[in-house]
Amino acid sequence: MALDITYLGHSAMLLSDGKHRLIIDPFLTGNPKAAMKAADVKCDYIALTHGHEDHVGDTVAIAKANNATVVAAFEITTYLGEQGIKKLEPGNPGGRINTPFGWIAFTQAFHSSSYQGRYMGMPCGLVAHLGERTLYHCGDTTLFGDMKLIGDIYKPDVACIPIGDRFTMGPELATKAAELIGAKVAIPIHYNTWPPIEVDVKRFAPTAITVKALPPGETYHVG
Ligand code: NI
Ligand code: MN
Repeated sequence: MALDITYLGHSAMLLSDGKHRLIIDPFLTGNPKAAMKAADVKCDYIALTHGHEDHVGDTVAIAKANNATVVAAFEITTYLGEQGIKKLEPGNPGGRINTPFGWIAFTQAFHSSSYQGRYMGMPCGLVAHLGERTLYHCGDTTLFGDMKLIGDIYKPDVACIPIGDRFTMGPELATKAAELIGAKVAIPIHYNTWPPIEVDVKRFAPTAITVKALPPGETYHVG
């Protein structure tokens, strides 16, 4: 088994084991770096880190078009239910949800979470196990010491780490985050989408970890 990870711009990632497709934080419409149109997304599962517009994005349209299951914080799934989404898997940090491809676990994140003024529960990171590989998507967060614990527990092969500063870690804190998590490969996310989060990706330089700064649309294969 193996895992293909396609970066769709900002924090959106499409994961596939060749049979199942999971999209995380599908913000495509209005995303200047989007590598795909929402109408072209084919997926079974959608997972959301938190309720901000640049992460929920096209969730309602994609879920309806694909009859996809949405994994998200309890408050977000309540909102999505009101929008007519039927297949919902609510959770909260510490929880793990079993899926046909493996599982998705919620971790903590230090951030906020609201949508059009409505409280959307805890912001989260997500650990996805797909294709017998494990990916940790940090969501929007600053650095925290328990990233080491998350790395020890889930042993991710790949970590997707926000580096854009202002709303999340900047590259220097993200460098420390990558070293604490200890995944062999780190993919920077949540940067260069707009001027306030423009950074030089070269400043994200963890020791003994391969940085894969994927241009939007590019796929990284974990064999
Ligand atoms: Ni956010
Ligand atoms: Mn964000």
